[in-house]
Amino acid sequence: MNRRRVLKIAGATVVLAGSALAWRAFDQGVFSAGSGAAYEPWKNWQADESPRPLRPVRAAILAANPHNSQPWRFRVTDNAIDVFADTGRNIGAIDPFLREMTMGIGCALENLLIAAATEGYSAEIRLLPDPGNPAHAAHVLLAPGTRISSPLYDAIPKRHTNRGPYDTGRSVPADLLEGLAALGADLPGTRVIWFNAPEARAKTGELIVAATEAIVADRQQSVDSARWFRASWQQLQTFRDGITLDAQSLPPFVNAAAKMLPPLSQESADHAWLQATRERHVATAAAFGLIVVQDARDNAMRIRGGRLWQRMHLWTTSKGLAVQPLNQMSERADRELQLGIAPRFGTALKELVADAGWQALMPFRIGYPTVEAKPSPRRDFKSVMI
Ligand SMILES: Cc1cc2nc3c(=O)[nH]c(=O)nc-3n(C[C@H](O)[C@H](O)[C@H](O)COP(=O)(O)O)c2cc1C
Repeated sequence: MNRRRVLKIAGATVVLAGSALAWRAFDQGVFSAGSGAAYEPWKNWQADESPRPLRPVRAAILAANPHNSQPWRFRVTDNAIDVFADTGRNIGAIDPFLREMTMGIGCALENLLIAAATEGYSAEIRLLPDPGNPAHAAHVLLAPGTRISSPLYDAIPKRHTNRGPYDTGRSVPADLLEGLAALGADLPGTRVIWFNAPEARAKTGELIVAATEAIVADRQQSVDSARWFRASWQQLQTFRDGITLDAQSLPPFVNAAAKMLPPLSQESADHAWLQATRERHVATAAAFGLIVVQDARDNAMRIRGGRLWQRMHLWTTSKGLAVQPLNQMSERADRELQLGIAPRFGTALKELVADAGWQALMPFRIGYPTVEAKPSPRRDFKSVMI
């Protein structure tokens, strides 16, 4: 073969490989983060759907929720909205007693109520109105009222869980932490505990990493968690739920490479999560917090705890702060109870709370972001209506 022919073949190979890469990049949505049908609900959440009060539901589905399982359903009439848990969308051994699912319903309810107030409705809320149906989380009776606009409403489409590194050179001022904890004053039986002194922060961080190790070592928890990971762009656009690569706030090059390469094995994915927890989530937290309630098995308190989380998340968004739930300790404590094994993390949580009158509901971290968090997919509100 002469030299010119070799060069021609080499050139064609490079072009083909380039095209294949470009196609893979396109197919995997490398340059499309936040676009497509799966992200439309973030953009059209204020669309008019009169005469029924549908906009509060459009706001509700943008709420935080465990593993982005979106475990909710809504029934809307002219003057009421009923909120139901969609228990089939549970996250298995990660949440065996539906603690997180019920909190997620509380998060949705909070967005719904903030949007209803901004729409000019006064709302009367009955939690768990049907003793025969524990999935019936709330009945919200609406009547014409005064429009109440708030920065929390404006933050609804901007709020995203931030899993990126936080600014290690910036602590969160004590008055901001106090302001955050005070947001739950009207939610009886809920409270926030802060771990921001160096020693308390180090101890909490170590426990979170240890609990992550325990989840990774528990085959069932690992599998049930992975079930909600959406590795391909097509999967993400089809199911419009679950945890995505874009929601990890990885450096752009790493994110693009992760999208282009074949999905990681379960073992490698677990390892990557453990590493991110240790080196990013825990290592860069300015402080840890813990939402506590008087009875963590009581669904009304879980719903109120969820409302508090959503409110805190909207408030932090409006102040330029970042937050991320880090539920590993609670997930292990529930799993210990389910399996009847020694309560290692159950005891650790009790020690962190250090008050027999209160029980741990959800640990989280807070700090100033170094990268902007991206939105997660959402199912259309019509698909969650009864
Ligand atoms: C009850 C509850 C538990 C959660 N636990 C975790 C967690 O342990 N780790 C994490 O990174 N995110 C956690 N999240 C955040 C969700 O994964 C996130 O809300 C969901 O993927 C939707 O994304 P968004 O909040 O950006 O809209 C939790 C959220 C809720 C409401």
